[in-house]
Formats: sequence, structure tokens, C-alpha cells
Amino acid sequence: MKVAVLGAAGGIGQALSLLLKTQLPAGSDLALFDIAPVTPGVAVDLSHIPTAVSIKGYGEDGLATALQGADIVLIPAGVPRKPGMDRSDLFNMNAGIIKNLVEACADNCPEACIGIITNPVNTTVAIAAEVLKKKGVYDKNKLFGVTTLDVIRAETFVAELKGKNPADIHVPVIGGHSGTTILPLLSQVEGIEFSQDEIEQLTHRIQNAGTEVVEAKAGGGSATLSMGQAAARFCLSLARAKQGEAVTEYAYVEGDGSDAPFFAQAVKLGKDGVVEILPYGQLSDFEAKAKADMLDGLKGDIQTGIEFANQ
Ligand code: NAI
Repeated sequence: MKVAVLGAAGGIGQALSLLLKTQLPAGSDLALFDIAPVTPGVAVDLSHIPTAVSIKGYGEDGLATALQGADIVLIPAGVPRKPGMDRSDLFNMNAGIIKNLVEACADNCPEACIGIITNPVNTTVAIAAEVLKKKGVYDKNKLFGVTTLDVIRAETFVAELKGKNPADIHVPVIGGHSGTTILPLLSQVEGIEFSQDEIEQLTHRIQNAGTEVVEAKAGGGSATLSMGQAAARFCLSLARAKQGEAVTEYAYVEGDGSDAPFFAQAVKLGKDGVVEILPYGQLSDFEAKAKADMLDGLKGDIQTGIEFANQ
């Protein structure tokens, strides 16, 4: 198994690479790519951790080599938010970065599963899909927007509120990955009842959790450590699925289009990515309205990506 991390020297990239170095199956290869000059050093640093995962760092001219033979590519390359910014404010910087990096994936590892972390995820995943289509290598089962952070935040906040162990809490989170497009399905959390007040407050906190971190870091970036954990969980699930285990994760993928061309929901993973998109079941009235209210915005975000890639 070879995993490539693009943007590996950044806040997310370094945390994620550390977790992968310690948790990928023995015998795996980890390739770290970033344009930052420190990247080979990050790889040397991690290489001193005694696990059976080999690791190499690649600078600016090493993208093709980093990608060759990759089974999984994770992309946290790009600029994060500062206080007062919305995820869509990152579009101008990050759209071009995703376009170039995904073109390189198409050229060097067209069969790889690609997980896009770079914001605005609602849009960057649509850009990636268009790029892969143009290169003739698009497989909708292998392209993911990584929304795992929304799920782990929802589980943490519910556990905190109800005095439970987060490991015992499961919260479906569907939709997209920004503001009101993030829709936690609290009506489906087993064994827990919420008052309407709790539902409204929790939903708002989960939707704005990224901003909570951006503000607390006061200009020093957005979520990196919790995102590193979330991306590692997603990657390790993909890796286990590739080894034949049946695994379910939440991700922003191209489905049947009944809600939007891309939509985050539970997906069953297998050797070649998505095997089945699982239905999200019955929504409460509150959730159904929240979904109806956000779909136009989500579709607009997707359209922005399609237009950018085809301009
Ligand atoms: P960072 O600034 O710490 O790291 C970004 C890294 O990308 C830097 O090392 C930079 O050198 C590198 N980079 C820039 N252009 C590149 C290129 N063309 N090729 C390779 N590497 C390149 O930022 P951080 O905090 O790691 O965030 C990265 C992205 O992840 C941001 O867009 C942020 O909004 C997003 N994010 C996504 C989340 C999600 O849930 N999907 C959660 C949190 C952040």
C-alpha cells in the first residue's frame, strides 16, 4: 500500500503524516510532497519513528515520483482560513492548487483513491472530478471530499453534552462541508433524546466548529490536529477496505444526484473505493427543512467548481 500526502509540510499534513507513519499497515510506503523547503526534513524526522512504514519526502520537482504507484492520495495542500473568513474565501487561492495537483494524480496514479481535504471542499471536489474527466480517468467511486472532521466533532460534542463516552456515540453527518451545508442527523443518534433547544444549539455548534478553532487560534490557522486525526481515520478506513475489510465512513461523494451532484453521506468502502452509498433514512422535520434550505447553496458551490475547471 502506498499513500501520498500532498501538502504534507502544513499543519494538517504533518499531523496526518505522523499518524499514518505510526498506524498504516506494516509494509506500507508513505510519500510526503509539499512545495515548502522543509518537506524532506519532515520525512527524515518521521523516519526515525520505529514502524514498518517506509517514508520519503519530495520537494517541488518530486510530485510525479511521489505519486507514482500510489493507492491513496490525500490532499491538504493550500491556504487555511483566518478569522472573519468563510471557506469560500479560500477559493481563489486553492482552486488552482487542486486543479494542478489532481492533474498530476491523473497522470501518475490514475487508479488511486483521492481524498480532498483542501477547502472549500464543496467546490474543490467538483474541480477534481472535472479535471479527472478531462484526463479520461474519472471514477466517481474513487474521489472523496473528506468530511470526517464533521463526524468526529458531532460525536465529541454530543458525548460532552450528554456525559457519554464519545466512542459509544454515532452521529450521521450529511450534506456538504461548510456552514449550513453540514447537517448532523441528531434524530438518528441511538439511545439519546434531545430537546429542541439542544438540537438547535448542537447543530449550530457542529456547523460552526471550524470557526470556533479559527477564532481560538486568532490568525494562526484553522483546525490541523483534529483534522489530522480525522483524515488519518478516513485513510486507515480506505486502507482496511483495500485489504478486503467491509468498512463504512462518511464522505462527500458523487451519488445519484437526488440531493446534489455531490453529497456527504455514509459510504460502504471496498477494494476500489465506494461500493455502495447508504441511504440516510428518515429525517426529522427540522432536518428535512435544514436540508431543503441548504441545497441551493451546495449546488451553487459545486457549479462554481465545474465552471472553474472548464473555463
Ligand atoms: P497550512 O498552511 O498549514 O498547510 C498547507 C500546506 O500546503 C503548506 O505546507 C503549503 O506549503 C502547502 N502547499 C501550498 N501549495 C501547494 C502546492 N501547490 N503543492 C503542494 N503543497 C502546497 O494549512 P492547513 O492548516 O494544513 O490547511 C490546509 C487546507 O485544509 C486548507 O485549505 C484548509 O482550509 C483545509 N481544511 C480542511 C478541513 C476539512 O475538514 N476538510 C479542516 C481543516 C482545514
